[in-house]
Amino acid sequence: MKIIKTQVGIIGAGPAGLTLAHWLKQQGISSVIIELRSREYVEGRVRAGLLEQNTVDIINQLGLGGRMQKEGIVHDGVYLSFDQERVHVPFAELTGGRQITIYGQQEVVKDLTDDWLEAGEQLYFEAGAHKITDFDTDSPKIHFTDEGEEGIIECDFVAACDGFHGIGRKTMPQDSYRSYDITYPFGWLGILAHVAPSTDELIYAYHENGFALHSLRSEKVSRLYLQVNDGDHIDNWSDDRIWEELSLRLGTEGWSLESGPIFDKSITPMRSHMIDNLRAGRLFLAGDAAHIVPPTGGKGLNLAVADVKHLVDGFVGYYKNNSTEFLENYTELALRRIWRAQDFSNFMTTLLHKQDEHGSFTYKLQKAKFNYLKMSKAYKTTIAENYVGLPFESYEF
Ligand code: APR
Ligand code: PHB
Repeated sequence: MKIIKTQVGIIGAGPAGLTLAHWLKQQGISSVIIELRSREYVEGRVRAGLLEQNTVDIINQLGLGGRMQKEGIVHDGVYLSFDQERVHVPFAELTGGRQITIYGQQEVVKDLTDDWLEAGEQLYFEAGAHKITDFDTDSPKIHFTDEGEEGIIECDFVAACDGFHGIGRKTMPQDSYRSYDITYPFGWLGILAHVAPSTDELIYAYHENGFALHSLRSEKVSRLYLQVNDGDHIDNWSDDRIWEELSLRLGTEGWSLESGPIFDKSITPMRSHMIDNLRAGRLFLAGDAAHIVPPTGGKGLNLAVADVKHLVDGFVGYYKNNSTEFLENYTELALRRIWRAQDFSNFMTTLLHKQDEHGSFTYKLQKAKFNYLKMSKAYKTTIAENYVGLPFESYEF
């Protein structure tokens, strides 16, 4: 039996777990991470790639932004398109210079993992937590299995950063929270392709065939998405069909989409999921373990990092200032931001996806919103400030 002692035991080496570990280390608080999957699997997992200003600032402040600064692509605005008509939302201009950076989530994960391991810190891959015990005492424990050997992390606190399917949320007493769910009747087919982006900034588009998004990863790699019906299968989508549909849905007069070899494609379902309590005794949830947003607006990773900020405030208060105030307020502070992002992600999803027949009442409301966007600086500003992410101070009320 392997026994590991640390201050904060972290389950999951995604963006939430890794950011937490680095930030605690900077504050002189020890932690150990266990991760169910292999390093190759975690680093190869293709996810979204939109970093809010806050996220970029945090990664830089942790001294981990070197490659992101070189390879990340900074954007000052975004295009929203409806029925093949495009409007530009210049968010830097509308939000006092705030920007977003395009940099793949798995690149963030690689940078944080490399640095952690190079510094000789503890991170166990293919080590799955199967039980969390004693979280209602001062000495909680994480029970895990590493290469067939049983292990226990004995710690002061457990941070469950173990994603939507992890054990953290399942361990919370069922009467300690209420959950909220929306399952959308569509998903996203996402591709990566070896082709230069056909746009300088992201394009989100409503079309009568459904939503499409043109994003990118580098000067040579584009990332694009298509709304597909729930239950649709990737085998139904040949590369030619994907490009044809992207071209149609994203199209506007005088603009065309360049196509190229597709090297990754997959379909992801879309849901919103929330619980209204993120703590049980000394067990805390952060990131996808606590909430899921639909990807329209790219909030998932940013919310995970923002949760971690509040959690670090809590642990620093506990270890350095002998105060449990921030830990006790963790749920409330984190939930303010999470609900804001839930609302924005749901707004972007319902504005831009085909939900009902083209021409229906729902469609007319979507179109009315888009027409309002064309005429109103106030509406554009609302979208811009949510898209780039509100500063942390905004939530201190
Ligand atoms: N034991 C150890 N690790 C586990 C366990 C377990 N029992 N269960 C799950 N994990 C690991 C998963 O393998 C995964 O690597 O926890 C990690 C959780 O990472 P993410 O799913 O990336 O979640 P998070 O760090 O909260 O980041 C949120 O991920 O899903 C995207 O869009 C989302 O960008 C957002 C980000
Ligand atoms: C991405 O680049 O993968 C991306 C960008 C914006 C989104 C979602 C995903 O809203």
